[in-house]
Amino acid sequence: MANQLLRLDRSGLVLLYIFLGTLREFGAGQIRYSVPEETDKGFFVGNISKDLGLEPWELAERRVRIVSRGRTQLFALHPRSGSLVTAGRIDREELCETASSCFLNMEILVEDTLKIYGVEVEIMDINDNAPSFREEEVEIRVSEHATPGLRFPLPNARDPDVGMNSLQRYQLNPNSYFSLQVGGITDGAKNPELVLEGTLDREKEAAHHLLLTALDGGDPIRQGTVPIRVVVLDVNDHTPKFTQSVYRVSVPENLSSGSRVLVVNATDLDEGVNGEVVYSFRDMESKASEIFRLDSRTGEVSIQGPLDFEKYRFYEMEIQGQDGGGLWTTAKMLITVVDVNDNAPEITITSSTDSVLENSPPGTVIALLNVQDQDSGENGQVSCFIPDDLPFNLEKTYGNYYKLVTNRALDREQVQSYNITLTTTDHGSPPLSTKTHISLNVADDNDNPPTFAHSSYSAYIPENNPRGASFFSVTALDLDSKENARVTYSLVQDTIQGAPLSSYISINSDTGILYALCSFDYEQFRDLQLQVMAQDSGDPPLSSNVSLSIFVLDQNDNVPEILYPALPTDGSTGVELAPRSAVAQAEPGGGSSGPWSTSSLCHRDTHCGYSQQYPRGPGRPGQS
Ligand SMILES: *[C@@H]1O[C@H](CO)[C@@H](O)[C@H](O)[C@H]1NC(C)=O
Ligand SMILES: *[C@@H]1O[C@H](CO)[C@@H](O)[C@H](O)[C@H]1NC(C)=O
Ligand SMILES: *[C@@H]1O[C@H](CO)[C@@H](O)[C@H](O)[C@H]1NC(C)=O
Repeated sequence: MANQLLRLDRSGLVLLYIFLGTLREFGAGQIRYSVPEETDKGFFVGNISKDLGLEPWELAERRVRIVSRGRTQLFALHPRSGSLVTAGRIDREELCETASSCFLNMEILVEDTLKIYGVEVEIMDINDNAPSFREEEVEIRVSEHATPGLRFPLPNARDPDVGMNSLQRYQLNPNSYFSLQVGGITDGAKNPELVLEGTLDREKEAAHHLLLTALDGGDPIRQGTVPIRVVVLDVNDHTPKFTQSVYRVSVPENLSSGSRVLVVNATDLDEGVNGEVVYSFRDMESKASEIFRLDSRTGEVSIQGPLDFEKYRFYEMEIQGQDGGGLWTTAKMLITVVDVNDNAPEITITSSTDSVLENSPPGTVIALLNVQDQDSGENGQVSCFIPDDLPFNLEKTYGNYYKLVTNRALDREQVQSYNITLTTTDHGSPPLSTKTHISLNVADDNDNPPTFAHSSYSAYIPENNPRGASFFSVTALDLDSKENARVTYSLVQDTIQGAPLSSYISINSDTGILYALCSFDYEQFRDLQLQVMAQDSGDPPLSSNVSLSIFVLDQNDNVPEILYPALPTDGSTGVELAPRSAVAQAEPGGGSSGPWSTSSLCHRDTHCGYSQQYPRGPGRPGQS
């Protein structure tokens, strides 16, 4: 806007020159002044009254005035002193831009004589402008492999001042990588360029901060700067490097699946993908590939399957780290598996018997067994024991073999069977143990005879008893079992008054019940002494005898007696008991019921010993 006004003023000036051209010929001269720009209003430009040959006071009287239209605001006449002064601030750069010299022309008219004078005022430049750059910052991108000598254009600075007050030269802050070169001599201070002097390394310095300064030649010198940022672009010139060349780690075998084993780490000094390391297993046995997992991004090695010290104790692997640019390196990974007491000992019964005869001598072998533990070291050392209170010993034989033997004779009648708990424990911490049971029956040996509850028995039988009447029973117990405990009873053979005992008394061999085979007569027998034998069915059998006294009880069965003639016999047959085991005899006319049957052996008189001992007739002995 100001410039446009200025141009209008100028075209006005030209017209004025043409109009006033004739007036000048009336002997007017050219007056020259010079004034520096940017002075305050009222600054003295020149003594115009003196240069016109007038007294100062005449200026008003002779109506002297500036006729250049449009310039009046720049200069004014000071009537009292008769001098030309500035009417305002004058900016040379505004009036004349970059022209090397700046003149302003005007005319002074002396109206009473119609004389016109030309006045030329030179506006002197002062260094009021500093060089400046349009850019706030300059960024230059350069590969770290760029060769020295490479050039990069830099922006030009501007300074509207003229001459020495305008831009004279550029400067770059001192640094070892770049220098500054400025265009040809004729161009003076134009087209600065940045020249690469050294070798760049992004990993050492990723950016360089420079400062370009533009300077003018004024007094004092004014300057403008622009920062230059040189960004060094990465080249994949670094191989990843593992933090260790060998990674060693020990892991317990019971580590749960998914647990971290270790983290490998390779670093790459490059930037972006050139510095991103991807991990992988390089050389791996198949046994390891099932177990270990490597996270390709984090380098974390974890387990995905069970470790088993008893199977594999050591793994060796090679891991690779590769950057996005394809450079790679390797490291070794050694994993040692540490035993954990994870296996309980095992008991194997190699051979055993399920029964042992009682009274077997001490040292009789019951079982042979083997204990094992798959763990190693303390975890695999085992000991084996049985409860103290049993009549057995556990003897170590060979290696981890043990022998279970009796340590005394066993008695079936006391303990019929044993449930032997075998415990085996390893020496791990905490220890693991296993129990197993061996059940052992004690087989019977016929070592107990049947025994009667009493050492002797007494039995009573009233006289005139019916034949076949049971009158007493004996019982003997046998502590043994089965056959060895099956008791049979019998009477120890004897004769009474010349006749076999068995013709008077019989005993049921199974039950021990005694029967009278004939009717006793107190007047004939008052008592009988006999032995009952109880015998088991063992081999050899054992027996015991007990004495039994039978007393016949008197009843009032005798009337004063006529001794003669003799009474007739009743003609009955005698009876005898036969044991259950006796072979049954065919009985004509129907069998018999009951444990005994009539026997043809007993043909005698129904009264015990009647016919044999005492002939019928007077003088019967034994009567009291
Ligand atoms: C890898 O090692 C470098 C240098 O020792 C370290 O700065 C970085 O944090 C490590 N990375 C991991 C994931 O541990
Ligand atoms: C032996 O005893 C154990 C427990 O004490 C028991 O579990 C097992 O069944 C027993 N064995 C026999 C044959 O009784
Ligand atoms: C019992 O008596 C019989 C016959 O006299 C004899 O053979 C046997 O040995 C006796 N038994 C005992 C235990 O004395």
